[in-house]
Amino acid sequence: MNPREKLEVVCAKAWSPVVEEPLGEWVLRWADGFTGRANSARAVGDPGIPVPSALDAVCEFAHAHGIPAAVQVLEGSELEREVATAGWREQVEHAAGYRVSVLTGPLPSGPFPDADVLDEPTPEWWELTEGTAAPSSAQRHVVTAGKVGYGVVAADRVTAGAVRGAIVDGWLHVARLAVAPSFRRRGLATTVLHALAAWGRAHGADQWVLQVAVGNAGALALYGALGCSEHHRYRYWGPGPGTCEDRQS
Ligand SMILES: CC(C)(COP(=O)(O)OP(=O)(O)OC[C@H]1O[C@@H](n2cnc3c(N)ncnc32)[C@H](O)[C@@H]1OP(=O)(O)O)[C@@H](O)C(=O)NCCC(=O)NCCS
Repeated sequence: MNPREKLEVVCAKAWSPVVEEPLGEWVLRWADGFTGRANSARAVGDPGIPVPSALDAVCEFAHAHGIPAAVQVLEGSELEREVATAGWREQVEHAAGYRVSVLTGPLPSGPFPDADVLDEPTPEWWELTEGTAAPSSAQRHVVTAGKVGYGVVAADRVTAGAVRGAIVDGWLHVARLAVAPSFRRRGLATTVLHALAAWGRAHGADQWVLQVAVGNAGALALYGALGCSEHHRYRYWGPGPGTCEDRQS
């Protein structure tokens, strides 16, 4: 695998679906619809069968699990061209943004005393990051799997910012960053990310990796200010007319 593919595997390990089935080096994933990453096929590496047949297998898996068929593919790769040739199309309707920039950077050094990283998510953490204090079992599974820390930062005596960090193969994978709207542009995201970085260093990581929709200019500016730069991009593709879409009920 090339460095982009290897980093995709790191990111995937940080975000475990509820069901995963290998298809050669690809992985078919389901998590009851919670996030594109956990409900699309990770189309990285060799599926071991011709790409059109692999895409048919993606469709069969998706239909069996009641989710729309989707593959997560490296932007500009030979595989992406094959997916397009098979009649699939960019999944522009993907709610969180179908085109994603993967950023990396060195972890900043502390000490950063103004935020906490917890071993368990609090109701306030869930509320901020997922919009509910009572997550579904699939949400709970995906978010809590692995070596995970839950960053929280308070302002005006409430939890105003939250983030998830996962340790994978010496990387700190960052996800679910959220600051309550009325507390934005006060440095709280920076503060909680600094605390998470210190936690990551304490658990053996020296770089972080983040996945950001290319349209999220605020988050991209924030991560750029923290020293991150783009490593590569991926996109979601779904079946086009005349492919497995026609077989969906
Ligand atoms: C992105 C987000 C977490 C930023 O939180 P924040 O607490 O406002 O960020 P900070 O105050 O620490 O910002 C630090 C710097 O990042 C940049 N930045 C942050 N938000 C920005 C925005 N909306 N537009 C432009 N630049 C922004 C600025 O350079 C800012 O410094 P400045 O305020 O001195 O100009 C917040 O807007 C949010 O929760 N958005 C919705 C969820 C989201 O997009 N999460 C990220 C998913 S990858």
